[in-house]
Amino acid sequence: MLQRIKWFKKNAASLKNYDVLDVGCNAAILAIDTLKHANSYIGIEPKEVYYKQALVTKRNAGLKRAKILNVNLKQFAKIENDYNYNAIILSRILYHLYPEEILLLEEKILHKCGVAIVVCGAEKKEGKRHNDFEFWNQENVVEFFKKNKFNLGINYSIKKFFAGVATR
Ligand SMILES: C[S@@+](CC[C@H](N)C(=O)[O-])C[C@H]1O[C@@H](n2cnc3c(N)ncnc32)[C@H](O)[C@@H]1O
Repeated sequence: MLQRIKWFKKNAASLKNYDVLDVGCNAAILAIDTLKHANSYIGIEPKEVYYKQALVTKRNAGLKRAKILNVNLKQFAKIENDYNYNAIILSRILYHLYPEEILLLEEKILHKCGVAIVVCGAEKKEGKRHNDFEFWNQENVVEFFKKNKFNLGINYSIKKFFAGVATR
């Protein structure tokens, strides 16, 4: 099993009793461990091929408390009031977001969340980067969460990625 999935399994209990939003859920693999602890799960995924895979995961794993939406963060921010969430998973997504989406995340979404699970690639070149926040650098990620009134404790860090749980 991938190291970061193992790490997530161990840390998913911090989502206990929360309603969780997973931004860029891909095939919604994280929904499985999330729903061992959380009340509910909403995965948002703009790419149709991954969105369809997420629907397959939901069906095959019998995840009745999971909702999967075929939208990006900008689109979700317009309809977010229709959904109930108070926790967030940001796993290998921060660098994909456009500056406008980072602002929407800060202004509309993060303040509703009591906990955030954060996983970031630690290599400069990982993924398509759409903003200049340099989220491959741990210090920048910790600072971003601090600005948004979270304490992010990085409890896993290897060459390729780092991860932690942010609480209030
Ligand atoms: C590197 S993958 C990470 C997938 C998963 N979160 C994980 O940790 O395994 C990034 C995912 O975010 C999605 N994505 C890209 N831009 C996005 C955006 N603006 N809003 C939401 N999701 C986005 C991609 O389609 C892709 O599935």
